[in-house]
Amino acid sequence: MKTDITYDQLVDMEWQRQESTRKARLYSRCAMALLTLAASLLFVTALFNLLTPRGPAPRPHPAPSSSLRLPQFESCSDPCKIVLVESIPEGLEFNSSSTHLSIFQAWMTLMGEARSSLDIASFYWTLTNKDTGTQEPSANQGETILKTLSELSGKLSVRIAVNTPQETQLKGDLRWLNESGADIRTVNMRELTSGVLHTKFWVVDKKHIYIGSANMDWRSLTQVKELGAVVYNCSCLASDLGKIFEAYWFLGESQSIPAPWPASFSTAYNKDTPLQLPLNDTPSSVYLSSSPPSFCASGRTTDLQSILSVMDDAQSFIYIAVMNYLPTMEFSHPKRYWADIDTQLRRAAYERRVKVRLLISCWPSTQPVMIPFLKSLASVQDAKSKLDIQVRLFVVPSTPSQEKIPYARVNHNKYMVTDKVAYIGTSNWSGDYFVSTAGSALVVNQTVSQSAEPTVQSQLQAVFERDWSSAYSTPLTQDFQVKEICKMHRSSTFSV
Ligand SMILES: *[C@@H]1O[C@H](CO)[C@@H](O)[C@H](O)[C@H]1NC(C)=O
Ligand SMILES: *[C@@H]1O[C@H](CO)[C@@H](O)[C@H](O)[C@H]1NC(C)=O
Ligand SMILES: *[C@@H]1O[C@H](CO)[C@@H](O)[C@H](O)[C@H]1NC(C)=O
Ligand SMILES: *[C@@H]1O[C@H](CO)[C@@H](O)[C@H](O)[C@H]1NC(C)=O
Ligand SMILES: *[C@@H]1O[C@H](CO)[C@@H](O)[C@H](O)[C@H]1NC(C)=O
Repeated sequence: MKTDITYDQLVDMEWQRQESTRKARLYSRCAMALLTLAASLLFVTALFNLLTPRGPAPRPHPAPSSSLRLPQFESCSDPCKIVLVESIPEGLEFNSSSTHLSIFQAWMTLMGEARSSLDIASFYWTLTNKDTGTQEPSANQGETILKTLSELSGKLSVRIAVNTPQETQLKGDLRWLNESGADIRTVNMRELTSGVLHTKFWVVDKKHIYIGSANMDWRSLTQVKELGAVVYNCSCLASDLGKIFEAYWFLGESQSIPAPWPASFSTAYNKDTPLQLPLNDTPSSVYLSSSPPSFCASGRTTDLQSILSVMDDAQSFIYIAVMNYLPTMEFSHPKRYWADIDTQLRRAAYERRVKVRLLISCWPSTQPVMIPFLKSLASVQDAKSKLDIQVRLFVVPSTPSQEKIPYARVNHNKYMVTDKVAYIGTSNWSGDYFVSTAGSALVVNQTVSQSAEPTVQSQLQAVFERDWSSAYSTPLTQDFQVKEICKMHRSSTFSV
């Protein structure tokens, strides 16, 4: 949040130069790959010829199945338990009964469970309200998290990967944590990809994980609307997220991206061969996706691929709640149009008559350029042709004193739910976040619940429906004006 300013500064005029080097590298890598493929084909053919017995046709015999079978579905017997976690900004009240554990509680519980290690991937740190020089009582949850974390830092291995801050010296929270014994590595995304490290996740004891939209920011606990998931007792999944963490940790030291990544960063779990595991006693298939593509070791599905495939798989609905939605590379110079996601949504609506709903955030910093593109999507609506895309804007109302808190009072959610799948991510939805910015997502595919508890998919659907039909969301009509809805003084219209 804090960083729309930083971000703009991060993405500089070097774009074009980097783009052309990137393309050159890509072409040479493709050429190499083709050569390697051709060579291996020749080799395999030769080997086959050598090994195939001549003369009488060989009798079929059972092949040693283990060596020939592709690693179809990796399974895991950990008793994994998943819960959705949320931050609901102070003053927001919903009529729906859909409530979840708070992110503050979840982080406290995770720290309480930690016995040997805690790895955190983060964008920036402002857990105390020193950054704004204010005396906000609602900063106390962030301050409690920081204090608990600094106590842990002296007792067990705490590692923090963070986007390189603008200052050369560590300041504030990070300096305190370092002095308390945490290991900190800064990842210079500006140099690496001209993006930022936007990922937000925790890996505890290589066993429990948190992933979601909340930054290490006190506002993310009390003043910004956030959504994430915690998975307990799940080493299979935690060790896979651990690989993404190790990649950031490696980059923090090497300051250059290996190509290809060493085998230790590879994964067997992706959109085609997800991890099979019991989640809350219900058989599920799960994987983690990651961006940018250059950070994806062998086997890893990119964030964009996972989004497109989840959409492609939807049969009846696609619900999306993201802060920003833009079919552009919003930080590139010169401007570039980028419609991979936009096209996929229109395709689902047209080809399969999938009902599409987008819940986008609207606050004083909303970029006006988002609105015409959203109106364009929302115009794909016609009962006779069975086209059904709708867009609503979610406003977090503020009292006059809340309005003074900078970078707060906004819906920062980044998730998607379809009739089959829950996708919980850390990225805004515009091209940059899939091309140059580091982010990651948890994708959970569940069949019908086999326990008393509803599936994650249906819990996430309930969160979406709660927000969509609440008084905080406004339909995007063709005559919608950003100024009126996103920038107005809202305390007068809502009795909060
Ligand atoms: C998402 O986009 C907004 C607006 O550009 C920006 O303020 C924010 O930092 C971005 N990242 C996060 C944390 O969602
Ligand atoms: C953490 O503190 C030590 C000194 O105690 C210093 O050598 C190290 O560079 C600091 N780490 C970072 C990432 O600044
Ligand atoms: C994780 O497993 C431990 C040991 O089996 C158990 O005591 C604990 O309740 C589990 N945690 C959750 C959240 O299920
Ligand atoms: C979800 O699982 C089903 C059944 O295994 C599979 O057919 C489908 O492709 C999966 N969907 C996604 C988006 O991975
Ligand atoms: C809750 O329901 C009441 C009565 O239907 C309505 O006036 C109010 O706007 C609703 N509040 C929210 C947050 O949706």
